[in-house]
Amino acid sequence: MTESLQELLFELEQFGLSNDGTIADRPRRMLNITRDTGEFLSVLVRAMNAQRVLEIGTSNGYSTLWLALAAESVSGRVTTVELSEFKLALAAKNFERSGLASFVTQVNGDAGALLRSSPESSFDVVFLDSERSEYPGWWPDIKRVLRQGGLLVVDNATSHSAELAPFVALVAADPDFSTCTVPLGNGEFLATRGSR
Ligand SMILES: C[S@@+](CC[C@H](N)C(=O)[O-])C[C@H]1O[C@@H](n2cnc3c(N)ncnc32)[C@H](O)[C@@H]1O
Repeated sequence: MTESLQELLFELEQFGLSNDGTIADRPRRMLNITRDTGEFLSVLVRAMNAQRVLEIGTSNGYSTLWLALAAESVSGRVTTVELSEFKLALAAKNFERSGLASFVTQVNGDAGALLRSSPESSFDVVFLDSERSEYPGWWPDIKRVLRQGGLLVVDNATSHSAELAPFVALVAADPDFSTCTVPLGNGEFLATRGSR
């Protein structure tokens, strides 16, 4: 990682902490993943040689940068979807500053619509960090767009375990998936497509 990218990531971490510490209005909060989650995502993408990564919930692009850094190293790309115009603009600036913009495709809109319009098996890794109540409704399409052997990673598995419980139960009950929860950061629920 270049020094300037390291500096940008540190700057975004400080910004996220101070912004979210003073602002109660959820749409204006950054709600970023933790640094160790970023490092974990980056290792997963590299280990899987994942060239087609989908992120649901861009915010200001902090987690996207970790995914994009790894995507760059395997000649891959990250598609990231976000509803908020305010956050899309913040993320676009951060992608330009990072030098990783050419590895990121920003989608302005609803993740449900993007999932519905995406072809079968179009992603190797899906990182889900968005509106948790929507996840069960999105599951059939997440499953459809994830290739055989692909990996789903879901943030907030321990910080918001009760909210995630219906989704976790749905995925864990699916015979096509093997699952586990990793107690790092806010907790990462992992599900890989491949029979047990
Ligand atoms: C927890 S934040 C994402 C944080 C980001 N992954 C990071 O760690 O830097 C969740 C984001 O999902 C966005 N969001 C909520 N519902 C959405 C939807 N239906 N489609 C796309 N984005 C959505 C919110 O605007 C918010 O920015």
